[in-house]
Amino acid sequence: MIISPSVLSMHYEDFRKELNDLNESVEWIHFDVMDGHFVPNLTFGPAILEAFRRNTSLFLDVHLMVSDPDYFADVFAKAGADSIVFHYEAYNDIEKCSLLIEKIHEKGLKAGISIKPKTTVEEIVPLLDKIDIFLLMSVEPGFGGQKFMSEALDRVAQLKRYKEDHGLNYIIEVDGGVNDENAHELISMGTDALVAGSFVFNGDIKANVEKLRNCG
Ligand code: DX5
Ligand code: ZN
Repeated sequence: MIISPSVLSMHYEDFRKELNDLNESVEWIHFDVMDGHFVPNLTFGPAILEAFRRNTSLFLDVHLMVSDPDYFADVFAKAGADSIVFHYEAYNDIEKCSLLIEKIHEKGLKAGISIKPKTTVEEIVPLLDKIDIFLLMSVEPGFGGQKFMSEALDRVAQLKRYKEDHGLNYIIEVDGGVNDENAHELISMGTDALVAGSFVFNGDIKANVEKLRNCG
């Protein structure tokens, strides 16, 4: 199981200590980039990702919630991302998404697509054989600390079925409201990577990560 804590909920006054806890307990770090336009919130620029890159060898999982993912993909690839995931809804166009996936791959990074809760999996089926990561939102993107939408469970099952039926390998990653009450079901339905922000950073990081692992 891949645990990818969202550093949107990190306490930056304790950056070193918290990053050290992550270095000792998880596989990935989830980095939420918001532009104040695609979503009504604004987060990190590339200098912050560079600071993570200098202090960790963990996989840096970048989630772009931006209207111009092409531009931001360049910026964050250069800053040290290992993967770039962007939203289908930024383009609502399969061809444009395919081109950006190709471009991310050419940089030697993993590429992924994310969809909001109201977008159907059917719409993005033509992209499924091109991606490494499918990031399924289980809240409306924009803010940490929201309530998990249980509709995500059926979508995980759907994505897992498609993957098996077509011999594909994409990682199914779920983002939003993940905690030790829903992780078990998410994992049993086929989730490969859990993003968790408030659950991990609210209290003892390592103990909370362990609680998620025990759900598997
Ligand atoms: C929401 C972000 C999430 C968020 C998750 O737009 O994409 O990654 O940080 O936070 P929690 O786990 O608190 O819902
Ligand atoms: Zn995210």
